[in-house]
Amino acid sequence: MAQLLSFRVYLSAETQKASPGSFKRTQKTRKPLTPGQRRPVTPVRKPQNLNLEVSPHRAVSAVRLMRIEFGGAFADLLNEKGKGSGSNEMSYVERTIGFRTRDLDDRDLRLVTDVVGGTIRWRRYLDHLIGSLCHNERTFRNMEPLLLQILRIGFYEIIKLDMPAYAVVDENVRLAKIALRPGAGDLVNGILRKLVTLKEKDALPLPKVEGDDRAQARALATLHSHPVWMVRRWVKYLGLDEATKLMTWNNTDPGFSLRANMGRDITRSDLVERLNSLKVPHELSLHLEEFVRIKTGLQMVVQAGLLKEGICSVQDESAGLVVSVVNPQPGDRILDACAAPGGKTLFMASCLKRQGMIYAMDVNEGRLRILGETAKSHQVAGLITTIHSDLRVFAETKEVQYDKVLLDARVLDSVSSPRERTCAGTVNWRTWKNLQNYRMSFLILPPNPEENQGRVEAFLSRHPEFSVDPVDRLVPSSFVTSQGFFLSNPVKHSLDGAFAARLVRAL
Ligand SMILES: C[S@@+](CC[C@H](N)C(=O)[O-])C[C@H]1O[C@@H](n2cnc3c(N)ncnc32)[C@H](O)[C@@H]1O
Repeated sequence: MAQLLSFRVYLSAETQKASPGSFKRTQKTRKPLTPGQRRPVTPVRKPQNLNLEVSPHRAVSAVRLMRIEFGGAFADLLNEKGKGSGSNEMSYVERTIGFRTRDLDDRDLRLVTDVVGGTIRWRRYLDHLIGSLCHNERTFRNMEPLLLQILRIGFYEIIKLDMPAYAVVDENVRLAKIALRPGAGDLVNGILRKLVTLKEKDALPLPKVEGDDRAQARALATLHSHPVWMVRRWVKYLGLDEATKLMTWNNTDPGFSLRANMGRDITRSDLVERLNSLKVPHELSLHLEEFVRIKTGLQMVVQAGLLKEGICSVQDESAGLVVSVVNPQPGDRILDACAAPGGKTLFMASCLKRQGMIYAMDVNEGRLRILGETAKSHQVAGLITTIHSDLRVFAETKEVQYDKVLLDARVLDSVSSPRERTCAGTVNWRTWKNLQNYRMSFLILPPNPEENQGRVEAFLSRHPEFSVDPVDRLVPSSFVTSQGFFLSNPVKHSLDGAFAARLVRAL
């Protein structure tokens, strides 16, 4: 489980891709072909529609936001060369808004990352403000998607990035006029100017945290831009103060952790050398010897091919510490029961020192295929056997023997944050019970320590043959609960939140 839940976008292997131009409602749609008709082959076009008036980072950000919202593309994939940026990027831009801009330089790229990531994180908050400043509710509800993205960008730049307000207004108005039409520019102008005035008077129309629990949760959800269900849950389990701290942490600029890939004999010093040559500032992880933290520069890491070549992976240290809880040893046969996209699988495989096997199971074939491909670039493919199966079916029908079983039971929860949405699924405790002949098992569960503890206790009371194996010899003491479970706390440790229980069955 990797989080008490952030909306942070991580590098993940995701199969969906936006099809260029598939979401621009304002563009003319092609007429369907009649039977027998053939679409003429379109010659490769030279970049004729170059527009040098519009600021490139805003045009690209608007198009990326469209792809993410309507095409299912992930912000992280869009940062990777060949998967949406670089030369591809401008063709998406041209197809979506009708023109290209000049190519992005490093500063533009940093701005795009910041604006796209921030606009996604703050969307609920930004939409509340935009809706409040529209003429009426219908104008907001019926707003065409590209126009809404341009407004979100403008609001984010003015409120959260504190950019010079009138420059932001001018630039976003120009983008709306050229990408859409003059009337759209006028609307952007009117709404952004209202925002600037209200900001100057410190009178933004924001909700007050008052009324019953539900009303308070709604207000907090808007103010901190989180889903209402999540806020209610966190307030219930953590109390208002802790929940607020957690949401604040969630909304800070995300840092990233990189794991040096020992499976390719890359040490952390090798990785540090590469980061130094790219001038990417970094710090060594305090908790894990393979990990390095970076605040900025992920784009450079991606573009230099370090991820593609399997030199390192982006992995939160909390996920790394869960692997420490599993403690993979050379020769182990380990079932990773809900494995894709495979961050933990790959790390576990790299710990085996070329002896043993990780059985990586997932119900989603596409995600599993990507896991297999990544394993090749990480040079650990010989240590991973993928199993395409629904764990519930597998557990009912197969007699299996593993030394260790890792069950990433975040799937138990209904999930809806952008970062978690690909993990939705259903695995239940019966499945767990049915896995035969295992010696050790590890559960990783959703957030809310009390809830997790309760689940583990309920399981243990039904299965007295299991007992808790305390994790204190496997992870630093600040991560060990009084019951011997692993728990990382975003506010305390500046990592994603994670909970893991190590359960051992008496043979
Ligand atoms: C939270 S993600 C796992 C993340 C992974 N452990 C990692 O560290 O990268 C959950 C995965 O469980 C898979 N899943 C959901 N229900 C499943 C089921 N019934 N059987 C097998 N896999 C399932 C989903 O397809 C998804 O890929």
